[in-house]
Amino acid sequence: MSRNAMQWAQRPKFPPTHYVDSRVYTSEEIFREEQEKIFNKVWIIACHESEIPNAYDYRTFRHPGGQNLIIIRGDDNQVRAFYNICPHRGNVILYDPSGNAKRMTCIFHAWSFDCRGNCIDISRGKEGYQDRLSLQDVGLREVRCEVGYGGFVWVNVDDNACTLKEYIGDALSMLEPHMQEPLEVFHYHKAIVNTNYKLWHDTNSEFYHDFMHYFNRITGMLQPGYFDRKYVGYPNGHASVGSMEIKYDKYEGSKDRKVGWPGLAPGGWILIDIFPGMTYNLRTSVLRMDTAIPLGPNKVIIEFRGLGLKRDTPEMRAERIFDHNMIWGPFGRNLHEDLLGVHGQGIAMRDERTDSRWVLHGREENMTIHDEGGMRHYYAEWSRRMGRPAYDPFGDRGIAGKAAAA
Ligand code: FES
Ligand SMILES: [Fe+2]
Repeated sequence: MSRNAMQWAQRPKFPPTHYVDSRVYTSEEIFREEQEKIFNKVWIIACHESEIPNAYDYRTFRHPGGQNLIIIRGDDNQVRAFYNICPHRGNVILYDPSGNAKRMTCIFHAWSFDCRGNCIDISRGKEGYQDRLSLQDVGLREVRCEVGYGGFVWVNVDDNACTLKEYIGDALSMLEPHMQEPLEVFHYHKAIVNTNYKLWHDTNSEFYHDFMHYFNRITGMLQPGYFDRKYVGYPNGHASVGSMEIKYDKYEGSKDRKVGWPGLAPGGWILIDIFPGMTYNLRTSVLRMDTAIPLGPNKVIIEFRGLGLKRDTPEMRAERIFDHNMIWGPFGRNLHEDLLGVHGQGIAMRDERTDSRWVLHGREENMTIHDEGGMRHYYAEWSRRMGRPAYDPFGDRGIAGKAAAA
């Protein structure tokens, strides 16, 4: 065996907290277990309140646990969530991704439901069920739903889970002073990437990869203060990366930024990762929200929302859209650089011939911006919830270890 073949077969010479087995990113078995033990137990952002501003507005949501949900604003202004499943014979009720429905009628046998999930009509009900079934017996299955932390609509399919407040804890305390006013989504797009959802969250958990971003090297890394940013971990796997001032004028072609954000220093930046796949990213004039919806171990939908203030004038809004799209959104280069990074990881990790490897999370720089402690913090929570250590999830010391033992 060549020297480097031997290197690849050995576990990294780091403590086990400082690397993970790459099969946590590719295994079908692990993915199913993540749906059950993670996604079906935690609070997940489904959308933002501004996407359903009026009574009866709805959005459908593919929950990362696999369930199809309806998020609908009631006639009492309350936002509720339900399974998008008819209690009669289990048909899908709403097919459109968004709309306005005073009455939700199942196309199959025409049972109807109102915005509070009550069944309001059973076609030929008396004739078929006589007194054996009443409208009260067959409402939509409600899912826990809360609006908060910037007006996002959160859902939890576990009836026994802790409250949203308990789940978040202090993780968003750095951002909360900047999210006191009503916000509004002005841009939405999504990317479907052949990679694992955790790899996307990893890019939001470390900034060592700023070497990949031309723009960040110029506006951030070369500027004083960049290496002072501290990574702070919170319970439940959440984390924040300290604020810094970005020198946008260092980027050739940038223009003066006219709109800021309430309470945020000009050029300020606050980034907060919420376990298991959501990121608040407030930069100067725009809040970007990333949410990951895995479709399998090797495929993920990443949703991106750009938010401004609800009270924006048209001029302010135009400026925010410009700022968002020029750099951080679909017409900037950063996003595509990130997507290329995780796409490449996805290709390499799916290749079974290289599956015997470990992924290093071993940088230690006093928990500053290039430290990989963010990922270590995440995988500690992941391992706890999964009941499997991320460095050895199958108890076989990696595929190489398994082969050696055989
Ligand atoms: S399945 Fe919906 S009305 Fe029959
Ligand atoms: Fe990035």
